[in-house]
Amino acid sequence: MKLRLIATALLIVGCAQTVPVFVEKQPDTGTAPPDAMSNDPLAQHGQYLVTLLGCGSCHTDGALTGQANSKLLLAGSRTGIAISNPLKVEHPGMVFPPNLTPDKTTGLGHWSETDIVLMLKAGEDRHGIRQSPVMPWSAYAQMSDDDARAIARYLKRLAPVSHKVPTNVRPGQASDLPHVYFGVYQKP
Ligand code: HEC
Repeated sequence: MKLRLIATALLIVGCAQTVPVFVEKQPDTGTAPPDAMSNDPLAQHGQYLVTLLGCGSCHTDGALTGQANSKLLLAGSRTGIAISNPLKVEHPGMVFPPNLTPDKTTGLGHWSETDIVLMLKAGEDRHGIRQSPVMPWSAYAQMSDDDARAIARYLKRLAPVSHKVPTNVRPGQASDLPHVYFGVYQKP
């Protein structure tokens, strides 16, 4: 059986270009002004965890292609992540990591800290809608309630950034929005 693998070392961007997956410069996820966190140890711990867990490597514009926009840290990605096998389907569908800053229109402004904790621990948004496994909530479900609460506090303390990301695209739906693929695929 002949297998064609897309090497893990590659991301395919919009089917046209290839870029190395080993992003040389990791995005800086320490986004909040120091004074917003200085008297809140819980938020500081949240900042530490968000940095460690690499939330900004998906949720920051440009980060998925190694060019994180420092002005839009954690404010969502306009580059999507494909959600089905590019060797099997012409239009793979994609999800867009949303804006995590507390902007009321484009971000988490209407989410409570508890909403964010539930999202991280159970993978459901504040309307009870199950999130794509591309968002690694099943791994984050293992974290302690205190750590999840710290992350939520940190996100709610960020300066709101108005930045709208595209709506998710269903598999089969044509779209020319920029996107990347994760993973190794097997040719049918
Ligand atoms: C591998 C990429 C990736 C990483 C890493 C990641 N996320 Fe996500 N996240 C996503 C995607 C994609 C979605 C949207 C999923 C969907 O629409 O079904 C999402 C959704 C969310 C949502 C729901 C927001 C909304 O408006 O619906 C929250 C909150 C969130 N992520 C927080 C985090 C936090 C906090 C971290 C780090 C601890 C993190 N994410 C790490 C990709 C990622």
